[in-house]
Amino acid sequence: MTDSSRSHRIALIGGDGIGPEVVDQGCKVLDVLEGLEGFSTERVDYDLGGRRYLETGEVLSDETIEELRSYDAIYLGAVGTPAVPPGVIERGLLLKLRFAFDQYVNLRPVKLYPGVTSPVAGLTPERCDMVVVRENTESVYAGAGGTLYKGTPHEVATQESVNTRHGVERVIRYAFDVAQGRPRKQLTLAHKTNVLIHAGDLWWRTFNEVGEEYPEVTRDYVHIDAACLFFVSQPERFDTMVTENLFGDIITDLGAAVQGGIGLAASGNLDPTRRAPSMFEPVHGSAPDIAGTDSADPTAAIISLGMLLSFLGEDAASARIDRAVGTWLEERASGGAVDSTKAVGDRLADLVSR
Ligand code: IPM
Ligand code: MN
Repeated sequence: MTDSSRSHRIALIGGDGIGPEVVDQGCKVLDVLEGLEGFSTERVDYDLGGRRYLETGEVLSDETIEELRSYDAIYLGAVGTPAVPPGVIERGLLLKLRFAFDQYVNLRPVKLYPGVTSPVAGLTPERCDMVVVRENTESVYAGAGGTLYKGTPHEVATQESVNTRHGVERVIRYAFDVAQGRPRKQLTLAHKTNVLIHAGDLWWRTFNEVGEEYPEVTRDYVHIDAACLFFVSQPERFDTMVTENLFGDIITDLGAAVQGGIGLAASGNLDPTRRAPSMFEPVHGSAPDIAGTDSADPTAAIISLGMLLSFLGEDAASARIDRAVGTWLEERASGGAVDSTKAVGDRLADLVSR
């Protein structure tokens, strides 16, 4: 008997630079997991990104968006090439997909695996295990604003932060759900209510109102600048954090450093309503300088695959990835382990079956 709920359609967007290399390693792991856990996937490659834009002049057509909409999930490597001016691919592809599919949650775990060396001296895994819930469709990313008198001494540039009750409330509710499901049940709002008195006030009131529906979850608030300090000095202060788009973008790069590097930072762009596909990607970029050298670390892409599988209900497969990554990182810490992109993929593909 085939169970159609365990047959998943996944769009692959390798993208540019090291993107396709790390997605390939994820696919290797996925092949093994399908056999082990008895689910299946149909995977279709989409050629998108900076390289394709330079070749064809097209970033992302409406037809492609509609095609992608029919998938259960999108697995993305990285997009962007130096020859394309800043913003074209970021806004025209990555942000366009996040917005078109209303992926209003950007879920970014910050977790120090055993054996991994953090730049924070003496940091232990017990002291660093949190999840950042980044709002993913509003704030300055909405693109509101404009330029006047360009190129003159009187040039004016505005870049406005858009925050709606609907947008703020839904991501805060999602974050409370995440916090409620974790042992510590603690949710921290990070904002800048002392300066951003309009947006901050909306976030603060919504946080407390929604929080009343979650009596088991302890609420905490920290200004985003202080959060940067505490991410480094006392990461154990945090369990689940919710924050607006730009603050979340910045603090999760800091989180990536604290947890041992951008090669380990995974993310999911989620539409929790499941009306459109969610999209999973490593936090790192396309690293054109090392593309083609088989030296990119595919671990973040493989952890992101674990998030994808968990979102599709394949929890056993996702748990296998988590265990395999844990083992692999301990192996790497004790030296002697393989470290080329392909070799790491092979090793993880082997470890998931243990
Ligand atoms: C990220 C990236 C993107 C963002 C860029 C590439 C648009 O930095 O996913 O964190 O700012 O969200
Ligand atoms: Mn970023």
